[in-house]
Amino acid sequence: MQDLFGRTIDYLRISVTDRCPARCIYCMPDANVNWLHHSEILSFEEMLRISALMAELGIKKIKVTGGEPLARRGVIPFIERLTKISGIEKVSLTTNAIFLDDHLSSLILAGISAINISLDTLNEETFRRITRTNAFAKVCNGLAAALDAGIQVKINCVPISGYNNTDIIQIAKLAEKNSVHVRFIELMPLGFACELNPISPGEIFMMLEKEFGKLLVCNDKLGAGPAEYFNISGFSGKIGFISALTHTFCALCNRVRLTSAGMLKPCLASDINIDIKSMLRGGAGDFEIKDAIKKIIFEKPPAHNFTADNKIHADVHKRRFMYRIGG
Ligand code: 5AD
Ligand code: SF4
Repeated sequence: MQDLFGRTIDYLRISVTDRCPARCIYCMPDANVNWLHHSEILSFEEMLRISALMAELGIKKIKVTGGEPLARRGVIPFIERLTKISGIEKVSLTTNAIFLDDHLSSLILAGISAINISLDTLNEETFRRITRTNAFAKVCNGLAAALDAGIQVKINCVPISGYNNTDIIQIAKLAEKNSVHVRFIELMPLGFACELNPISPGEIFMMLEKEFGKLLVCNDKLGAGPAEYFNISGFSGKIGFISALTHTFCALCNRVRLTSAGMLKPCLASDINIDIKSMLRGGAGDFEIKDAIKKIIFEKPPAHNFTADNKIHADVHKRRFMYRIGG
């Protein structure tokens, strides 16, 4: 379906849990996380009902995310059922890869189309500093298994000043021998990330050109996402930039998000949302729910306001947490 600004919305991201075994510095506190109670989180049946209604409204792709989606029991049969919804063409997963090695073959059997792995460094010590876990070896196993399996893999790396500056080249090199896309995601000022400094996409670009020579704009349309892709001579994979602040892509945005607590959010950076969970649990019929979804999609904001020079906005963003909304 189309929104007020003519954008076609065909992509739904579902955060299936707020739980995660990692405590990334830009996402969570290091201790005493205020988890949602199990009853506050949508059941898989509820998520499937919403997904089916949204497929009727034109959603074609679904990304399963978290927290860490593989931390929720039953997520793989859930993914399999999502792939079977009429109208859904692709179901993919965003994961930190801590549990990936254990689940990869069942994910492939369930019909997953692609896997995005969040990986900010290939240095064990930096990994520990950023994620505040000791799971580096498990992540490496998960990554290696995914690369071996031949499934489409994208690596998401968030460059953070003072943390992974010297790891950028090594991460980019993952795209040298493997045909994976390595994407550098500009740190967005949400929640704990407000206390950190991004390394700008321009700086990353310069580091890469210095090391590998010219980055050549890739003209093929790769997926429907916001990444701008580049080729490097001799690389099998591509390098992408997702720069929400410096290259706002809101005009091309095609997505909506369903949070684990059952809110449908048309924009990551906005408090406009609908409480679908209450509608569902209050006994609303399909027609009524679809109407509410249509209305919220239609009213999707034209753009985020991260860069607005406004303290009120900044304070509001500080209270938005990625592990709750879904990355
Ligand atoms: N800015 C940019 N990316 C973020 N992620 C989590 N928080 C932020 C933030 N504030 C990323 C994770 C993961 C993806 C789902 O979102 O690193 O790759
Ligand atoms: Fe977990 Fe992802 Fe948040 Fe890190 S960014 S704590 S891996 S949900």
